[in-house]
Amino acid sequence: MAYSEKVIDHYENPRNVGSFDNADPSVGSGMVGAPACGDVMKLQIKVSESGIIEDARFKTYGCGSAIASSSLITEWVKGKSLDEAQSISNMQIAEELELPPVKIHCSILAEDAIKAAIDDYKSKKTAK
Ligand code: FES
Ligand code: FES
Repeated sequence: MAYSEKVIDHYENPRNVGSFDNADPSVGSGMVGAPACGDVMKLQIKVSESGIIEDARFKTYGCGSAIASSSLITEWVKGKSLDEAQSISNMQIAEELELPPVKIHCSILAEDAIKAAIDDYKSKKTAK
């Protein structure tokens, strides 16, 4: 199947690959898997005192669309509030990357992972 140029660009030059120390209280981590294909995505956010996402990282074991979706969402969430990041939908990702229907679940993985990272950050905060 043909990948769009944007997918290939993110696949060749993924942004924000890596991870933050999970022990850092300003870090939220989300890890999700796609039952359909067995791919796994981990997204992390680093949040400022004022609730703005300052930085993001990802590690994805998966197809090109999953890698591109995670790379793209780490770029998008930077500088956003938690609420703004929460409202990013997989359809925005799928549209930007021109994903075909069979690859939509790859973008859902990115939406779910960022939501999981936000939840993790919030639960860490309230646990303090
Ligand atoms: Fe092969 Fe996702 S189905 S990498
Ligand atoms: Fe399963 Fe892309 S995440 S094929």
